[in-house]
Amino acid sequence: MSGAFDFSGKVLVLTGAAGSIGAAIARAYLALGGSCVLTDLSQTALDGLAKDLNTPDRVLTVQHDVTSPEAANAVVEAAIQRFGRIDHLVTGAGLYRDATVATMSDAEWRQSIAINLDGVFYCCRAAAAHLEPGGAIVNIASLAGQRGSKDHGHYAAAKGGVLSLSRTLAWELAPDVRVNAISPGLIEGPMVQPLLAARGPALMAQTPLGRLGTAEEVAKATLFLLSDWASFITGESLQVNGGLYMT
Ligand SMILES: NC(=O)c1ccc[n+]([C@@H]2O[C@H](COP(=O)([O-])OP(=O)(O)OC[C@H]3O[C@@H](n4cnc5c(N)ncnc54)[C@H](O)[C@@H]3O)[C@@H](O)[C@H]2O)c1
Repeated sequence: MSGAFDFSGKVLVLTGAAGSIGAAIARAYLALGGSCVLTDLSQTALDGLAKDLNTPDRVLTVQHDVTSPEAANAVVEAAIQRFGRIDHLVTGAGLYRDATVATMSDAEWRQSIAINLDGVFYCCRAAAAHLEPGGAIVNIASLAGQRGSKDHGHYAAAKGGVLSLSRTLAWELAPDVRVNAISPGLIEGPMVQPLLAARGPALMAQTPLGRLGTAEEVAKATLFLLSDWASFITGESLQVNGGLYMT
């Protein structure tokens, strides 16, 4: 049983790395010995994160807009060039905006689908042929993708797509690569502040554990699914939501 969470010699490509959950995943993966290719929209934010992580020999940062298929290919090439391998992919980039379906513009719909769903497809496609046998993908989906989300139809549709895409990839990349999703509930960070301002007390009352989750708790679940401890788990969606939604 020893060493299951040792990522020494392994390489993770992580999108949305400068976000709350992304940074926690990067920190945990590095702490367990792995190397990280960290991507996000802002190179400045990535530089700040890399400085904070303070492991320059095991970190490569790449400015990356996930809505670009070419950029996804470039990230994979950069990872191979720097580290010579890719073992793990975590797609953490995401955008969560308020809009009812009735009032949503075409541009709002398109932007959400482009970031939250197209971006996951581009990254998984780019990485698929390069992932080492025994590797794994974890796509960060959402509670919204499981049950829908009032005032976030574009986001919920995209995250539902991520869940279906993950199950499909679990078939297509088996048996060499496992593919799972994480569906966070309400997690501390900037993304949920508008929702908490509008409906925070009611949502906490519906949550058996009675609090927000932390980015570190999402990171732990993600690293479990990447690790050999999850070696017989593929096509699964792990709910990290304090019981707010149970299936
Ligand atoms: N925070 C929550 O409660 C919660 C709940 C469910 C799901 N999630 C999902 O978890 C993931 C991380 O969320 P978070 O809470 O850390 O949010 P966050 O806003 O802190 O991080 C999201 C990151 O995605 C990046 N990003 C946005 N558009 C991008 C683009 N076009 N290209 C590249 N990067 C882009 C942002 O720059 C940011 O760093 C997201 O996929 C989100 O949908 C979060």
